[in-house]
Amino acid sequence: MQEQINNLKNEAIALITQAGSANELEELRRTYLGRKGKINEFVKLMAEATGTERAQLGKSINETKQVIVQALTDQAENYRQQTAWLDVTQPGKLPPMGHLHPITQAIEEITRIFEGIGFTRVRYPEIDYDWYVFTALNMPPKHPARDEWETFFIDASSHPSKGELVLTTHTSNGQVREMERVKIPPIRMLNIGKCYRRQQDVTHTAMFHQFEGLVIDSGITIQHLKGTLNYFARKFYGPQAKSRIRPFMFKFTEPSFEVDFSCVHCNGEGCRFCKSGWHEVGGAGMVHPNVLKAGGIDPEKYTGFAFGWGVERVYTLKPGLHLDDIRPLYSTNLEFLEQF
Ligand code: DAH
Repeated sequence: MQEQINNLKNEAIALITQAGSANELEELRRTYLGRKGKINEFVKLMAEATGTERAQLGKSINETKQVIVQALTDQAENYRQQTAWLDVTQPGKLPPMGHLHPITQAIEEITRIFEGIGFTRVRYPEIDYDWYVFTALNMPPKHPARDEWETFFIDASSHPSKGELVLTTHTSNGQVREMERVKIPPIRMLNIGKCYRRQQDVTHTAMFHQFEGLVIDSGITIQHLKGTLNYFARKFYGPQAKSRIRPFMFKFTEPSFEVDFSCVHCNGEGCRFCKSGWHEVGGAGMVHPNVLKAGGIDPEKYTGFAFGWGVERVYTLKPGLHLDDIRPLYSTNLEFLEQF
């Protein structure tokens, strides 16, 4: 009987590999594996055998069955591949394309807006001396005003006159650096960079971005500052947007202001989102004479204005972008970032 089983196996494989259609294959499956099929006939015959012979036959029937099942599956797959329809005119699948990070997009937009009125974007160190970050900005060592900037200090030897190295807490470090670079006004600087502070909550991250404007020339007044603020508001938030300034205190400007933009949802009327109709975005003011002097510019001849705002802050106030928590902007959660 063993020989008959072998013959059956060879015959089945020969027929299966020649089968040319799904129907033929189905026919063969029934012939061999069906309830009244050839394999089952052997199973019945096996029942008559005894002892080791029976065990031996059982094993070889099982093996034969498996070989036939495999041959049927292989041939079905061959057949499917040969007959599968391929539309060669279909457009290919494009590889997935990323896009710029939302904050990079905002930085580019802000740059274009200020370039439109003659500002030039510059970059200054993100690790800088205490001198540029505080002292030259009219905040001598140990001055209590410094406490407001929750500073990370670098554990490195300090410079004999420029002091310790810090992670820049604001982009205002670019002010005196720009005065040193240009030397003779006019100056129209836009310094955008990363800033660092010891802070982390829904509206603050330890690393964030600021953009700093600095304009110095003869005859610069608060009117120029106000015009620049309104221009930015309209370009960034839309034609109805307005700005307002409120008195404040910064050591590096006199007078100093806090800057608000009208709420994009209610146009300054007051709504659930803004409450007062306005959103505070950052500081501004007329450059303090001591800061001009620190940058080698004669305050008798020149005046200037400056402002510094958070990129994340101005960006998240855009229409349709009500972000309750800015921290996911700096996570690796692509599903979140791909929305922008
Ligand atoms: N550097 C300030 C801050 O980070 C913001 C600022 C206020 C910048 C007044 C300025 C300015 O240029 O004039 O809080």
